[in-house]
Amino acid sequence: MVTHETKSLYKNNCGGCHGDDLKGAPPTFPSLVDIGKRRSKEQLATIIRQGTGRMPAFDYLERKVDEIVEFLETGKDSDSADPAADAKDPNWLKYRNEGYILFRDPEGYPPTTPPWGTLNAIDLNKGVIRWQIPFGEYPELVAKGMKDTGSDNYGGPVVTASGLLFIGATSFDKKFHAYDKMTGKLLWETVLPAAGNATPSIYEIHGREYVVIVCGGGKNGAASGSSIVAFALP
Ligand code: HEC
Repeated sequence: MVTHETKSLYKNNCGGCHGDDLKGAPPTFPSLVDIGKRRSKEQLATIIRQGTGRMPAFDYLERKVDEIVEFLETGKDSDSADPAADAKDPNWLKYRNEGYILFRDPEGYPPTTPPWGTLNAIDLNKGVIRWQIPFGEYPELVAKGMKDTGSDNYGGPVVTASGLLFIGATSFDKKFHAYDKMTGKLLWETVLPAAGNATPSIYEIHGREYVVIVCGGGKNGAASGSSIVAFALP
């Protein structure tokens, strides 16, 4: 029987990734809507007990795994209809992670004052921020004269012995940048085939240095790609 308790078991353990409404956040977290049509009870129980891919194992739920399986197969409406019953439920958590949700304004931009992303250099000896610059742009806003808004950015930097800092990371302008690590001054930039949401690597062949970055893109609605781009350093 799917009790209220089972729903909160689902919400507490699974909802953070697969969503309280089972819809997940594909492709990162798959939807579990109608999962009973694609997976047998045994398969579902095995996935939950052992985990799969990037999903952790939930072995500690023991017999409750079977309840969750039943909920996945039968419980269409996972929203709690009765908050009072929730409160009495021993598994109910008042504050939970309800999923990975990006706050966006009606036009799809972050609802805060820019910059919406910064690149920061921290002086670890002094414990101070050495420099901080807006990082990332939205090409369609730049076209309207709104530059340096900052944007989502995912990916780390690499620094050369001579003090060049290379970083891709900015999701929507797809740029690859070289900064002076001491000042944050932009020395060079170019546009990649897709956002370089990866940390670059530096290598050397026959005395010539190269910097290479994987351009996968695809984060938060950005275009995705599948290229690896290398540049020779002068
Ligand atoms: C930390 C995030 C996370 C949590 C928590 C989580 N999952 Fe998952 N789950 C995933 C990811 C990611 C996948 C996809 C696995 C992969 O291929 O990497 C997945 C896959 C699945 C699948 C297979 C889907 C399919 O289409 O085959 C099922 C079923 C599932 N999860 C059920 C659950 C249940 C039930 C719970 C709670 C007990 C749960 N998950 C908790 C992240 C999570």
